Amino acid sequence: MAEVVIVETADAAGEIVADEIQRLLEAKPDAVLGLATGSTPLTTWKALARRALDLSAVRGFALDEYVGLEPGHPESYRSVITREVVVPLGLNPDLVRVPADRGPVETAGEDYERAILEAGGVDLQILGIGSTGHIGFNEPGSSLASLTRVKTLTERTRLDNARYFSSPEEVPMHCVTQGLGTILRAGHLVLLAFGEGKAEAIAGAVEGPVTASLPGSAIQLHPRVTVVVDEAAASSLRFADYYRHAWNNRLRVSGGQA
Ligand code: GLP
Repeated sequence: MAEVVIVETADAAGEIVADEIQRLLEAKPDAVLGLATGSTPLTTWKALARRALDLSAVRGFALDEYVGLEPGHPESYRSVITREVVVPLGLNPDLVRVPADRGPVETAGEDYERAILEAGGVDLQILGIGSTGHIGFNEPGSSLASLTRVKTLTERTRLDNARYFSSPEEVPMHCVTQGLGTILRAGHLVLLAFGEGKAEAIAGAVEGPVTASLPGSAIQLHPRVTVVVDEAAASSLRFADYYRHAWNNRLRVSGGQA
């Protein structure tokens, strides 16, 4: 079972996840972070930035990237990660990778997998969840063993992400995303979600059957998962009372309580 933390606000979630990242970096200043885009991790990045830690040795791997945007497009995930993570946190941009950033899309998957392995693997992976239940851009049907590869986005995801573009048609049709198998190799998964629109996806991810139809449910296969959600995103969780009880009476043991 994931450790599920139900908080009042997105800011409170950001502080909890920043604590987790800070603990990791105190033990390992050159830790490898799995970086997520989207609005959900923003309070985490802000909380970390406020702590003014020296993060210059941290290495990072973004979860995903669009295919087909011109280089430097403000909504490419390279641009988003630079703007929202690398600059405010003072990361070294040379140590931060985004899929398909160093070569053609055709070999991007293999190249990215090799780079992650060479870095020693991701220590802590931040995850948001899409309304289709996707993590990274692993849309429903993604193999639970999938590795980094090109995917076609669902129309629902394109519409969800249209808010960042001037028109829905401008949202790319394709992406390169870490696979579910890639994500499951990280040492610790931290999944964040806020708002009622995420309630069904969170219930499916945490308590539903493990199924490729709801890719977020792959987290149940991982031994160390922390899920941080607000009350609205927690509203469909069957065992919410138990999660609150377990968090209020937590024992800090290494490795968590999967
Ligand atoms: C995008 C990203 C996901 C992210 C999801 C949710 O599709 N590829 O990594 O988790 O959006 O976004 P938000 O956090 O803005 O709701």
